[in-house]
Amino acid sequence: MISMSKTLFPLELQSCADDWTFNGVRTREITHCYHDYPARMIPQVAGKLLDRFGKKAHFLFDPYCGTGTSLVEGAVRGIDVAGTDLNPLARLIATAKTTYVSPQAVRSAIDAFHRFPLANRADEIVPATHVAGITNLAFWFKPTVVRALTALSEYIGTIDNPKVKRFFQVAFSETVRESSNTRNEEFKLYRYSPDKLKTFNPDVSRIMAEKLERNYKGLLGFAKIVGALPQRPKADIFDFNTVDEIPEAKIPAGSVDIVITSPPYGDSHTTVAYGQYSRLSAAWLGLPEPHSIDSKLMGGRTQKQIHTFPCDELNDALQRIASSHLARAREVSAFYLDLECSIRNVSACMRRGGHVCYVVGNRIVKNVQLPTDSVIRSFFESNGLTHVATFNRSIPNKRMPERNSPSNVAGAVVSTMVREYIVVMTR
Ligand SMILES: C[S@@+](CC[C@H](N)C(=O)[O-])C[C@H]1O[C@@H](n2cnc3c(N)ncnc32)[C@H](O)[C@@H]1O
Repeated sequence: MISMSKTLFPLELQSCADDWTFNGVRTREITHCYHDYPARMIPQVAGKLLDRFGKKAHFLFDPYCGTGTSLVEGAVRGIDVAGTDLNPLARLIATAKTTYVSPQAVRSAIDAFHRFPLANRADEIVPATHVAGITNLAFWFKPTVVRALTALSEYIGTIDNPKVKRFFQVAFSETVRESSNTRNEEFKLYRYSPDKLKTFNPDVSRIMAEKLERNYKGLLGFAKIVGALPQRPKADIFDFNTVDEIPEAKIPAGSVDIVITSPPYGDSHTTVAYGQYSRLSAAWLGLPEPHSIDSKLMGGRTQKQIHTFPCDELNDALQRIASSHLARAREVSAFYLDLECSIRNVSACMRRGGHVCYVVGNRIVKNVQLPTDSVIRSFFESNGLTHVATFNRSIPNKRMPERNSPSNVAGAVVSTMVREYIVVMTR
């Protein structure tokens, strides 16, 4: 790993001796500002793990990379990085965030965009009547918004430089989300109330311009750090499912120095619906499978049985759920079965002496707390890895449900997901 001068790093990385909470820190520095995403890891956690366990790392892998938080932190430290995610929108964002693109090229493209009379163009064009992947366009977007997004999408289609185009696509994705009739603060697709919709008149071109400028500042910071490195790190974003396999040609066995990841907390249907979150922008961007990923994510394939795992605490929790809610216990079991397969595959990639860091939450299902931190430890131990430490932190920044009703009984509200565990293992 290349050591970086102190001035190049965000201040937070230099202080906070053993604080994993990082309360009040800026989490949207450099390309971390590009795009919102559910359950993002905060960069400071990935950075601190790298500084502590990845001092000699040359290759970082994230098996659930999402928008690439740990990959960016690896890249700015001069480490080659690779990630995989089944969500095409997450892959697009992660690729943009880890790609060095000339700030001058992006600046001139943004200036050209500012000069382009998008509003006039929107008046002239034939607006989209159908966008593949969105069943009811008029339900999710106002007619003026459809016009403006059609014009924007056409404009982006004319950008030749693929890296600059991707930079614009990421800003466009957030513009789609913010100008849609969906409640922006929700990850699932919920439409605004009729009252709110009466006064909701988003200025699509202004939103896009703001995203471009914000992201440009982030790019400048990233390019300054990466540009000063003796060698630009490699960044590969893949689309394989670690539950099934990790292709040897992409991540050779024994090649990974450090894994830093935050896997899903549970199946997509009952935790974070990544597919739903991404659906509208993925559809406008023409990305593959905009609406069918949730069933392919971890725990998406239901099982007929409750599996017995190499972790007594988990088996016990599953039995307690099954005693009152058998179907729910099967769903939870399906999630851990996927996690177990994925961990077997990840273990095989690790080089001897390398470290694995999983950031997880212990969610509650039907009033039973699932000991995911212990589960991860046991699964890795079954694959020959040794436990180094489990740190815990409260989650002040992560947008997750802090209180819900795990028993589905109206009014029964239980605190959940307020702590996060960082499980560190070594091979
Ligand atoms: C908690 S998020 C990761 C967020 C990421 N750390 C970030 O900061 O953006 C979990 C990710 O796992 C992905 N995922 C779920 N199941 C997967 C699987 N079987 N293979 C690969 N990725 C999967 C989801 O699409 C989601 O992007």
